[in-house]
Amino acid sequence: MASPGDGQSPVEALSSENPSPLAADSISSKSSGDSATCSIDESLKDYPFHFNRRYHKFKEGSYPFPNDDQEQERMDTQFNIIKQAQGNRLFFAPVQNARNILDVGTGTGIWCVALADSEQFPDAKITGIDLSPIQEEYVPDNVFFELQDCSELDWERPLGSFDFIYTQSLFGSLQDYAQYLITARKYLVPGTGWIECCELDIKPHCDDGSMPGAESESEDDEEEEDSSRRRRMRDAQARARNGSQPQEQDYAFKRWAEWADYASRRQGRPLRIAKQIKKWMIAAGYVDVRLITTKIPIGSWPKDQRLKAIGRRWAELVSDTLPAASYRTFSDGLDMTRDQIEVFLADVRQSLSNRSIHSYMKNYTVYGRRPSEDEEKGRMAPPPPPRKGAGR
Ligand SMILES: C[S@@+](CC[C@H](N)C(=O)[O-])C[C@H]1O[C@@H](n2cnc3c(N)ncnc32)[C@H](O)[C@@H]1O
Repeated sequence: MASPGDGQSPVEALSSENPSPLAADSISSKSSGDSATCSIDESLKDYPFHFNRRYHKFKEGSYPFPNDDQEQERMDTQFNIIKQAQGNRLFFAPVQNARNILDVGTGTGIWCVALADSEQFPDAKITGIDLSPIQEEYVPDNVFFELQDCSELDWERPLGSFDFIYTQSLFGSLQDYAQYLITARKYLVPGTGWIECCELDIKPHCDDGSMPGAESESEDDEEEEDSSRRRRMRDAQARARNGSQPQEQDYAFKRWAEWADYASRRQGRPLRIAKQIKKWMIAAGYVDVRLITTKIPIGSWPKDQRLKAIGRRWAELVSDTLPAASYRTFSDGLDMTRDQIEVFLADVRQSLSNRSIHSYMKNYTVYGRRPSEDEEKGRMAPPPPPRKGAGR
């Protein structure tokens, strides 16, 4: 069996379905040409601008982040930090002998190139699709890029043809992520084709009560409501032990995440989809579904040196991401002016540099397999007839 990822050390303590609390330190375009996807004509590079940032032209307006050089650099940094936080793995699914691989929402194509360079699947054709033709031209011979909207129900590719469909950081891009999973399923090889989704939840979390406002978090499913209740108890106990008062001041980044969540839902492309992917994958008929949750600290507050380094880079990245993530979202979704947005973002940036707040984000990686036809028949067989005498 091929070993997933790029063979570096796993991070079981950091990544799991239920990762343990983080401890704070003492201070507190080339195209493969065989599909009917859109070929890149020059008019698709006639990009629109908003607040001096450049946005995609193909399917204009459907993705709220820019696609300029600054954004490309930001995407690659984000990709690299998430990869580092996940133990330098490129994926987790137990994919074997893949010959045909698709990266959906490929961005600069960084995953495709890294996968090709890793030589885990030397015979595979690796195709990245995106709304923006912003990928490197000089890439390994088995890497191809195409312009395609993955929210289309028909990808105009052979059904059952991919051994692996990967996606990272599509959160906030799609109106219906659950539908994306349903669509992708029909393009996977039955029985052996895997899908993997690596998605971030922007909501900040905290394990030790140091994040203001953690008590009043409104959660969106029962599972988290329970853990939220337990956490509030733990927070109250921690404060009691430290003799500290509840912190009433604001954590502007938490407020930013709430506003962004609200604005993105208002615009019909919710940012906070990560937690629901496992449920959607199961509902879409995938089997062997597994979730790996990774905590990514915001700031250099963790005791662990590796996490401290990740947290420092992540806080810088989040700070640098604010304009890209806020301009369209807050101006279109909340009718805010650029000045209003900038004033708010200044507050948010300051909150991100506060080392006494031990917040982190969660990244959800979920993978699942398309069952074979036989497996499906087995799963969908009608229940056995009631035994004689049963039900009395
Ligand atoms: C945040 S970037 C992530 C890029 C890359 N996966 C990574 O992790 O670095 C999201 C990418 O998805 C692309 N995208 C958004 N909506 C899409 C759609 N409907 N179909 C294809 N690509 C899409 C965007 O253009 C953008 O390049």
